[in-house]
Amino acid sequence: MFQRIKPLDAIIATAEKKSLHRSLGALQLTLLGVGAIIGTGIFVLTSEAAQKAGPGMIWAFVIAAVVCGVAALCYSEIASMVPVSGSAYTYTYAVMGELLAWMVGWALILEYAVAASAVSVGWSGYFVGLLGSWGISLPQALVVGPYAGGIINLPALVVTLVVTLLLMVGTRESARVNAVLVVVKVTALTVFVGLTLPVVKGANFHPFMPHGWFGDGHGAGLGAVGAAASIFFAYVGFDAVSTAAEETRNPQRNVPIGLLGSLAICTIFYVLVAAGAIGTIGAQPVVGAHGELLIPASPELTARCKEIAAVAIEPLGCSHEALAHVLRAIGWERVGDLIGLAAFLALPSVILILVFAQTRIFFVMARDGLLPERLATIHPRWKTPHEVTTITGCVVACFAAFLPVGQLAAISNSGTLFAFFMVAIAVLILRVTQPARPRPFRTPFVWALAPVAAVGCLGLYFNLPFEAKMVLPVWGGIGLVAYFSYGYHNSHLGQAAKLAQKG
Ligand code: ALA
Repeated sequence: MFQRIKPLDAIIATAEKKSLHRSLGALQLTLLGVGAIIGTGIFVLTSEAAQKAGPGMIWAFVIAAVVCGVAALCYSEIASMVPVSGSAYTYTYAVMGELLAWMVGWALILEYAVAASAVSVGWSGYFVGLLGSWGISLPQALVVGPYAGGIINLPALVVTLVVTLLLMVGTRESARVNAVLVVVKVTALTVFVGLTLPVVKGANFHPFMPHGWFGDGHGAGLGAVGAAASIFFAYVGFDAVSTAAEETRNPQRNVPIGLLGSLAICTIFYVLVAAGAIGTIGAQPVVGAHGELLIPASPELTARCKEIAAVAIEPLGCSHEALAHVLRAIGWERVGDLIGLAAFLALPSVILILVFAQTRIFFVMARDGLLPERLATIHPRWKTPHEVTTITGCVVACFAAFLPVGQLAAISNSGTLFAFFMVAIAVLILRVTQPARPRPFRTPFVWALAPVAAVGCLGLYFNLPFEAKMVLPVWGGIGLVAYFSYGYHNSHLGQAAKLAQKG
């Protein structure tokens, strides 16, 4: 299995045989990246970061951005060499063999499908809040999963299915809708920054790191690095750009622009938004009545938040709609509501990109015979892999219907960090094994930056909450069973090797 390496030329040739339609340019790709990146992370999980790190969450945004930045440079080099669908999965296939490629593809399911579910759940919260502000309340049993005493998160389920339908109709149409929603999100963040930064107070930044770098969070990932591991979710999605390489015109130039451009734009916004939120209403972690640490999303924190909110402004670490809450708290009630509306309108674009990326990964794995080949069928009129899109949409909808957002986000991070780690290693291996192959984009200082990316991914992974850390090995074990019962026997590469041996 380790020797089942798919040569780069063969990968490019397969893609040309059963190819997708090339319709995306640099601007659309950058919008695709921004569309995938800005979402539940900044709109919802900022409060979790505050609870973990206090004002030091600014460092969390910077640390996560640095790890993603160096990973994006590695992605750019390989994506420009192998401009086909499949992202980290394809690259690993070409460099480290079929088994590891399968494991990366398997981990990418955690990244994209689970992240899409997380964003759907985040969206559902805003939707329910919005209905509430119009005086409409839905039965609790239908808006949260069993984890919070409900039965099913129906809004999250429905939004996922609607997005899936849109994706089946076509890439170009989806990209247009995405562009409009990106404008909505960027406008919302710009307004937030414009209203908060002028009234920032220096005193709100002290003490800056109440939980230090690592905290002592009993496996809950507190401190600035723990917060970085969870806020990493806010950056997840930039690599979706590389999964669209096969549908891009001039991918050698456009894919690196899309990857690095979208990441840079989002990093600037995130740091400014974090500074605005901290500087206006403060971001000190909420502590128990006796000063004890409270873990994000714990029942103890929820109870304490209720007590505080009854007599004072709700702290940032308590809020479920962080950005809207900050604006309301500093006197911009109506604008706060509008930010909520923007999140409601725009989060579906994130779900769209993530489901899109997941379908492309499945599509390529099916094309290689590791998943049933039927999944790679392209619809004659829509020109999209419609079957795999339907299946992906249904799986994402099920996760979204029954699980909570924070947990889904952390699980998604574990899969993503594994994939990024493998890409960082792959870029180095390719430099050694194929030094002469043309590289339209070269990672600068690759022997320093790729190891930084790999170590950064490991560091963040080990600072995830304990349960999220455990999901990756368990999921990996299930993946191994799946590979040996299906992929190993049906892989096109494996079958070709068998034929060659017989011949
Ligand atoms: N980065 C995306 C978000 O924050 C997944 O929602």
